[in-house]
Amino acid sequence: MLRITKDGVPSLRAPSKEVPLPLEEKDRKLLMDMLEHLKESQDDSFREKHPSVREGIGLAAPQAGVNRRLLVIHYPKDGEGNYQTYCLANPRIVSQSVKECYLESGEGCLSVDKEHPGYSYRSYRIRVEAYDALLGQKVLIKAIGFDAIVLQHEIDHLDGILFYDRIDKKDPFLKKPGAIAL
Ligand code: CO
Repeated sequence: MLRITKDGVPSLRAPSKEVPLPLEEKDRKLLMDMLEHLKESQDDSFREKHPSVREGIGLAAPQAGVNRRLLVIHYPKDGEGNYQTYCLANPRIVSQSVKECYLESGEGCLSVDKEHPGYSYRSYRIRVEAYDALLGQKVLIKAIGFDAIVLQHEIDHLDGILFYDRIDKKDPFLKKPGAIAL
């Protein structure tokens, strides 16, 4: 279980540094610890024993107090026990659609305990280049919809951006024409 850096700590707003490839042992270990944290956070009985742990599906290294360009994502992608899992180093969005999407329920973040109601608009479709620590090679990820939202949320963390930065200050529930609600 990791100690999660919370909103208000300046390092959460600092840009993170690229990591050397192939991965150094400390970076690989951090990624595995982050993945373990997500898995534990999704375990009801673990959370009962550790009430400070909030359930999450993604985590970026700055949230573990380390300003390096590493992120993990882990969530069930169907009802049949299959998971969408990424353990990425140096992810970079190489293309993105003009078409946007947003989560109707709003986004959440393990580093942000305060409520920030509103829509965070994201590209509906993105391509991400990264080093995949599980595959041990560079990959090109094509992500759509929810998958794309989660990747963009985590990559934002590497640039010190939080989801509520993307909510319209004057009109948090502004409906943009053509954007897809998820
Ligand atoms: Co977050």
